[in-house]
Amino acid sequence: MADRLKDKIAIVTGAGSIGPGWGNGKAAAAAFAREGAKIFAVDLNPDAAAETQQIIADEGGTCETYTADVSSDGDVRDMVAACIDAFERIDVLHNNVGIVEPGGPVEIGENAWDRLIDVNVKSMYLTCRHVIPHMVEQGGGAIVNVSSIASFHSIGYPCASYSASKGAINAITRDIAAQYAPKGIRCNAILPGLMDTPLIRGAVADAYDNIDAMLKKRDAQCPMGFMGDAWDTANAAVFLASDEARYVTGIELVVDGGLTLTMSPMPG
Ligand SMILES: NC(=O)c1ccc[n+]([C@@H]2O[C@H](COP(=O)([O-])OP(=O)(O)OC[C@H]3O[C@@H](n4cnc5c(N)ncnc54)[C@H](O)[C@@H]3O)[C@@H](O)[C@H]2O)c1
Repeated sequence: MADRLKDKIAIVTGAGSIGPGWGNGKAAAAAFAREGAKIFAVDLNPDAAAETQQIIADEGGTCETYTADVSSDGDVRDMVAACIDAFERIDVLHNNVGIVEPGGPVEIGENAWDRLIDVNVKSMYLTCRHVIPHMVEQGGGAIVNVSSIASFHSIGYPCASYSASKGAINAITRDIAAQYAPKGIRCNAILPGLMDTPLIRGAVADAYDNIDAMLKKRDAQCPMGFMGDAWDTANAAVFLASDEARYVTGIELVVDGGLTLTMSPMPG
């Protein structure tokens, strides 16, 4: 398939990857470009964004990079202005940035809690705050927020701030979808399950004895016997960003290989 996003301008936040291999944001940027979108690749780490840009350029696509911390209002304001300068419009806002901090309320320090909520939730408020006026002026657009099944289910280790942040993302997604449906702006969330991406080899691995034990346990948790990967998230994002999803808004698209079907109910 090709051209499902032909000539659309897509901001992808966290478009690099935290380590070698394919992260969700990097795969989404590449998948959008393969479908004809022009990518505005935003990352805190310029080298990570440049790597994604090179991959897209090698495949014949178009990608501009921009360095920003998406939890900073000034950075996000300037980032949106730079995208408009470069491409004159914004059709897709893919809010991918998210960090993990293992631990429950007793283990997580206040600063770490605040930082996680700023990076995971405030960032989406800020990007929407600065992008939506352009989408309204254009007559529409698509926002895709990367959440997690942790928003409604325990995922096997304590991560209270992460779960809280993802629950908030689902809520803001519904609210924006309802408010802006009359303006032609759709807003949806993707809820990946346990995915094998570079992210889990960092902070997530700290919650397990070692990386091999973590990979084995996560594969075993999944009904299909293996974790999903960044392309599973990216392919869902292509659909939600495209006009194929023109009548889909405010949903939580679970991409978890059936994991939540088999999990025991939350206590209470
Ligand atoms: N891997 C999983 O199992 C899994 C499951 C569910 C949801 N998710 C979600 O997927 C998303 C992340 O996917 P990824 O694989 O692309 O992650 P990643 O850790 O590889 O990060 C992608 C990029 O985000 C950048 N970044 C981090 N903080 C930033 C900030 N404040 N401003 C700008 N850029 C920043 C990093 O530099 C990195 O290059 C998160 O929202 C995460 O919660 C992952």
